[in-house]
Amino acid sequence: MKLDFTPTLLSFVLCAGTLTSAANIRNVRALVPRRQSSLLINNTAYPELPSAAQANSSAAAAGLNLTNVQGDILIGMRKKKELFYFFGISDATTFKAKLKKEILPRITTTTQLLDVSTQPTTALLNIAFSHPGLLTLNVSLGNDTLGDPAFAAGQLQSVTGTNNILGDPGTKNWVPQFLEKKIHGVILMASDTVDNINSELKTIKSCFGDSIAEIYTLEGAARPGAEEGHEHFGFMDGISNPTISGLPPPNPGQAVVPAGEILLGEKNDTVQRPDWAKDGSFLVFRQLKQLVPEFNKFLADNPISAPGMTPKQGSELLGARMVGRWKSGAPIFLSPNADDPALGNDSMRNNDFNYTDPGGPVPPTNQTKCPFTAHIRKTRPRADLPSEDTGRHIVRGGIPYGPEVSDDEASYNQTKTERGLAFVAYQSNIARGFEFLQKSWAGNPDFVHKGEGFDPIIGANQGNPRPVTGLDPKNLNATTTLVTDFIVSRGGEYFFSPSLSAIANTLTV
Ligand code: HEM
Ligand SMILES: *[C@@H]1O[C@H](CO)[C@@H](O)[C@H](O)[C@H]1NC(C)=O
Ligand SMILES: *[C@@H]1O[C@H](CO)[C@@H](O)[C@H](O)[C@H]1NC(C)=O
Ligand SMILES: *[C@@H]1O[C@H](CO)[C@@H](O)[C@H](O)[C@H]1NC(C)=O
Ligand SMILES: *[C@@H]1O[C@H](CO)[C@@H](O)[C@H](O)[C@H]1NC(C)=O
Ligand SMILES: *[C@@H]1O[C@H](CO)[C@@H](O)[C@H](O)[C@H]1NC(C)=O
Ligand SMILES: *[C@@H]1O[C@H](CO)[C@@H](O)[C@H](O)[C@H]1NC(C)=O
Ligand SMILES: *[C@@H]1O[C@H](CO)[C@@H](O)[C@H](O)[C@H]1NC(C)=O
Ligand SMILES: *[C@@H]1O[C@H](CO)[C@@H](O)[C@H](O)[C@H]1NC(C)=O
Ligand SMILES: *[C@@H]1O[C@H](CO)[C@@H](O)[C@H](O)[C@H]1NC(C)=O
Ligand SMILES: *[C@@H]1O[C@H](CO)[C@@H](O)[C@H](O)[C@H]1NC(C)=O
Repeated sequence: MKLDFTPTLLSFVLCAGTLTSAANIRNVRALVPRRQSSLLINNTAYPELPSAAQANSSAAAAGLNLTNVQGDILIGMRKKKELFYFFGISDATTFKAKLKKEILPRITTTTQLLDVSTQPTTALLNIAFSHPGLLTLNVSLGNDTLGDPAFAAGQLQSVTGTNNILGDPGTKNWVPQFLEKKIHGVILMASDTVDNINSELKTIKSCFGDSIAEIYTLEGAARPGAEEGHEHFGFMDGISNPTISGLPPPNPGQAVVPAGEILLGEKNDTVQRPDWAKDGSFLVFRQLKQLVPEFNKFLADNPISAPGMTPKQGSELLGARMVGRWKSGAPIFLSPNADDPALGNDSMRNNDFNYTDPGGPVPPTNQTKCPFTAHIRKTRPRADLPSEDTGRHIVRGGIPYGPEVSDDEASYNQTKTERGLAFVAYQSNIARGFEFLQKSWAGNPDFVHKGEGFDPIIGANQGNPRPVTGLDPKNLNATTTLVTDFIVSRGGEYFFSPSLSAIANTLTV
């Protein structure tokens, strides 16, 4: 059959309220225009995604239903363009009716996203709700928190509470809308063009009408050309994400975690939850501004000096040691002196290491090749801990936002237009996942070894200077004190991404 519906025509039909029976909704799913090319970035640095059939069958054998899981949760950072649409619910009854009849059929499932032939023009990857949002929908939360006190309290509380868990310098840099606690939910849309997203947004807005109000939006976009997939400091991102057991076998070095570490109610999620929460996940959103010209100036001013190395190479080495990978994605542990793009873009090799040397001690004691403080070593210590089995994994699904650095910004070493990372992390327990990584690892100068200092990328010290060791391979105990936070938190919120069955049977009744 030839599919020549335009998205606009489809949205007209869909939102006119003429298609309401379950059978018709199935037809609409089938009629959504098919793509010729994937809406996801296909880069050999990323582990190849399984086909839907492969994923389905191994998941089914493990008792997992990937068609019940919203599309963004297990996929990772592979989006080309993405819109984050934060809304408040003004009329819960109408909202529920529209969500059930018109939006639910548009939500892209994990299964659908895995094959190009079933991907929609624009993926509605996720609709997720804040705690006030779930209360507005009158959903029963069991013990009121869905088993997650951090979610229930909201992200603001993790900065302004008695314990500033996230280490932000207060909320002075926060986007005001994240301070108001009026956000009830967020919709994530992704495609390969902004036009496609705008067209989907128009459909969604016309469906919900006055039942929701826009509070804030953020547009993400992969960086242009060869920088596609790289975050704004220039480093390939999204290489290392865990997979859940039940999916096809992992890539070498990829962590495999019990499904319940990411999805509620699955194996190894031991927290008491209402039944309907099964197969949902907590979505942590953070708008993390990156001071790119300032970061580059710091590297230019402090090159690591080594025999035969130019200052420019020394600066690149410093940046790589702060992250733990070179800009190509090659791990410095495997290529300590220079970038190796062929290693960086080879997903069979670029994650296959654990900081131990053959015959060397376990846990490793040597940080010559990779500082203990490097961002990827702090956030996933691998063999530095007795076991990977830590329960501390998150699936990162963010995307860069903001323009490229202008010539003017580069020459003055000063950010004039905001850019950064629209950080997204999924896990079944926010305190064990994102918050623990941010506070107890990246922001803990005594982890994994006493006195080693902060993660120089994301370690946060409430705006105070941040001592870091391990950066200079010739003098590993030397302390570098970072006086600039190259990443500035603009705040965010905690959300719950329900399963499709929860949307159909609980959230919309
Ligand atoms: C603007 C902020 C950030 C930047 C620029 C950034 C950059 C990077 C880069 C370049 C990588 C290496 C690529 C990869 O392994 O996928 C990475 C990995 C990672 N990041 Fe970040 N990151 C940021 C924020 C965060 C935050 C807030 C967290 C969690 C609290 C986090 C947790 C991780 C984890 C868990 C890994 C994978 C480590 C591994 O498995 O080896 N990142 N990040
Ligand atoms: C991604 O690229 C690989 C190798 O270049 C290719 O085999 C694969 O079919 C591509 N996948 C998609 C979804 O485009
Ligand atoms: C995956 O499973 C779902 C139901 O669990 C089914 O609707 C879908 O057709 C399956 N997809 C593939 C490619 O097997
Ligand atoms: C998987 O989940 C989808 C969406 O909730 C549902 O329609 C389907 O019946 C489920 N499949 C199985 C095998 O439970
Ligand atoms: C939620 O519950 C309140 C109080 O019971 C009721 O007034 C309101 O109409 C309910 N809203 C919806 C959308 O069910
Ligand atoms: C699963 O949870 C059990 C009980 O908490 C724990 O002993 C086990 O190590 C966990 N397994 C993994 C792979 O995390
Ligand atoms: C990987 O990098 C190497 C070296 O830069 C390059 O020759 C090769 O074409 C790249 N491969 C892919 C698939 O990007
Ligand atoms: C640490 O590793 C470096 C590089 O692999 C090696 O040259 C050095 O001898 C090691 N130091 C110790 C104390 O093992
Ligand atoms: C580290 O990786 C090597 C292979 O690369 C493996 O032989 C070793 O068992 C791993 N060690 C730990 C502690 O995971
Ligand atoms: C920007 O920083 C570089 C490196 O420190 C320096 O050479 C240059 O003079 C700085 N530019 C301005 C306008 O200060
Ligand atoms: C560096 O610090 C460690 C831990 O405090 C210590 O064992 C080691 O001797 C120090 N190395 C040098 C060269 O000072």
